[in-house]
This record gives sequence, C-alpha cells and structure tokens, in this order.
Amino acid sequence: MTLNEEIKQLKEELDVTIVAHFYQKDEVFDIADFTGDSLELAKFAARDTKENLIFCGVGFMGQSVKILAPNKRVMMPKIACCAMAKMIDVEYYDQNVKILEDAGITKEDIMPVTYINSSAEVKAAVGKMGGYVCTSSNAKVIIQSALKSGKKILFVPDRCLGQNIAIDMGLTSCVVGDGSDPKEADIICYNGFCSVHQLFDVEDIEFYREKYPDILVISHPECKPEVCAKSDFVGSTSQIIKYIKELPLEQKIVVGTEYNMVNRLREKNTYILSSTKPECPTMNETRLEDVRDTLLSIKNGDFHNEITISEETRKYAFEALNRMFEL
Ligand code: 13P
Ligand code: SF4
Repeated sequence: MTLNEEIKQLKEELDVTIVAHFYQKDEVFDIADFTGDSLELAKFAARDTKENLIFCGVGFMGQSVKILAPNKRVMMPKIACCAMAKMIDVEYYDQNVKILEDAGITKEDIMPVTYINSSAEVKAAVGKMGGYVCTSSNAKVIIQSALKSGKKILFVPDRCLGQNIAIDMGLTSCVVGDGSDPKEADIICYNGFCSVHQLFDVEDIEFYREKYPDILVISHPECKPEVCAKSDFVGSTSQIIKYIKELPLEQKIVVGTEYNMVNRLREKNTYILSSTKPECPTMNETRLEDVRDTLLSIKNGDFHNEITISEETRKYAFEALNRMFEL
C-alpha cells in the first residue's frame, strides 16, 4: 500500500479532519481536507465538527484552534515553530511595555495588537491588556478599530506588517529601540520579522520590471515596507491566490512569498521574487510520513503531538482572538 493509500484508509476509519496551510509541501497540501490562510484555517478548524484535528502548519496555528475550540483534540504532525513567533515571549513583551513606560507612555495608554504569528502566552498577555489578535488579511481593520481607543498601538511581533499598515493608513510608526521617540508614533512596532520574507528586495523588483516592463509585482505584508511600497498588490496568502487566479493567463507576475505556494501557481506566468529559494524551514518540516504517523497515533490512542494550553492562558488568549472575530 502506498503512503497516500494508507492515509486515505486511516482517514476513512477515524473521526478526523486534516487542514494545511498554503506553505506546506505539495505532498501534504494535496491530502488536506481544507487549505487556507491563517485566518481561514483558524475559523474553519474551530467550527469543524470532527473530534480530531490534524493541523499541518506551524505551532501558533494549531494553538489558535485549541484556544478557540478547547474541547477539540488538536494534533500537529510536527510542532514546528514559526521563526517570527519565536522572536517574542512574555518576558520580551513585558520588557517592551516597560520601555514604553520609561519613555513616558503609561500602560493604560497602550493598546496592544499581536499578529496571529505569536505564542498562546503572548496572545494572553495582549488579551489581559484588552488587546487584539490580527492576521495579515485583517490587520488594517483591527488596527482601525484598536485606534478608536485613543491609545498608542503596540504592534507585536512583526515590525514589517506594523509599518506597512501604518504607511497604508497614513499613520506614523517606529520600531522599539530604533532611537526614535515612541511618543511621536501612532503604531509602535516590536522588532521582529520573518526571515523568509526578508529575502525579497527592491533590487529584485527592479530586475523584473526592467526585464518585463508590464510585469505585476505581488507581495505579502511581511515583506519590507520598501518592497510593499513598490508592489502592485499586497495581501495575505489567500488574497494573493485570489488576485492571481483572476488575472489573464498571459499576464506575467512575480510573487514575494513562500516557495511552495508560489510554485503551485506556476500554471500562470509566475516568477519568484528572489534568486534563492524562499522556503519556510519550519513549514517544510511536515512530511507525509508524519501525517500518517499522527493518524496512526489516533488509532492507537496515544495522540501524537497533541496541543495543550493551560486554562489561564487560554482564557486571556481567547479574549484577544475573540475581539478579532467580533470585528
Ligand atoms: P497568512 O495569514 O497570509 O496565511 O500568513 C501566514 C504566514 O505565516 C505568512 O508567512
Ligand atoms: Fe513564520 Fe515566516 Fe514561516 Fe510565515 S514564512 S510561518 S512568518 S517563519
């Protein structure tokens, strides 16, 4: 029996749904029951009625489902941690709040917003301060709403997403520790970033524009602000796919996001905005064998890599996530 046949058979036997992010390897992506961006996956998985959920993605994604649906058994073939999410923990978060306090901004005047690419603990710290979670597809709406509080936004952990939203909304921003006065900024960004999306540069855009003058440049908002500013379209993974699917086949496109996803769009005239292969190492950890082993673990009752979160953390993290869903 092939691995694919084994997986198909186990799925038929068990009460399980498999979901996968667009950055997963093709072999994993192809066997998923549902695929999507971070927001779509969290929404779908939390509402799914099967007892078991196998999440093929990175750690914060599986955790988000567990926060939203605590009674569901959530398992991950690999608990691979997003490198950006790893750049912040509660200690660093508290240190950043303290830096702002030392600069003359009281804690009561800070409205934190965390990108969904963060741990349950960081989401809980944000939730405790009355803050929000956002994703790349709704960050602007969430920040618009958070600003109604009249407070300064502390945006964690992705400085690029925070700065890109500030530029888009005509607001001022700074990065904690960049030497500027945070009191002058509307959005104060934590100094985190995605190493994969840092691979795209303005020079790459210039190279493609010179080679193909009518090419469209598309990027993810985790790319540097100067890259997004020179792009024709900026959006979440799902928004990028939708935008590309609506373009005529002959339209040349260059995309600045993760390799597996862009490679699947190659039936169009698609190029990748980098001379190196921009693969997300942690997304790529999950293999078909790992999915099969996780299914087998459900069958054997030992539930491989099950996500657990303490109720105290879950409660506050839920508040931050739920404020996003309420919007
Ligand atoms: P999306 O929400 O756009 O799927 O992004 C998730 C991510 O980690 C991009 O690097
Ligand atoms: Fe995290 Fe970047 Fe990988 Fe997305 S591409 S999961 S932000 S490391």
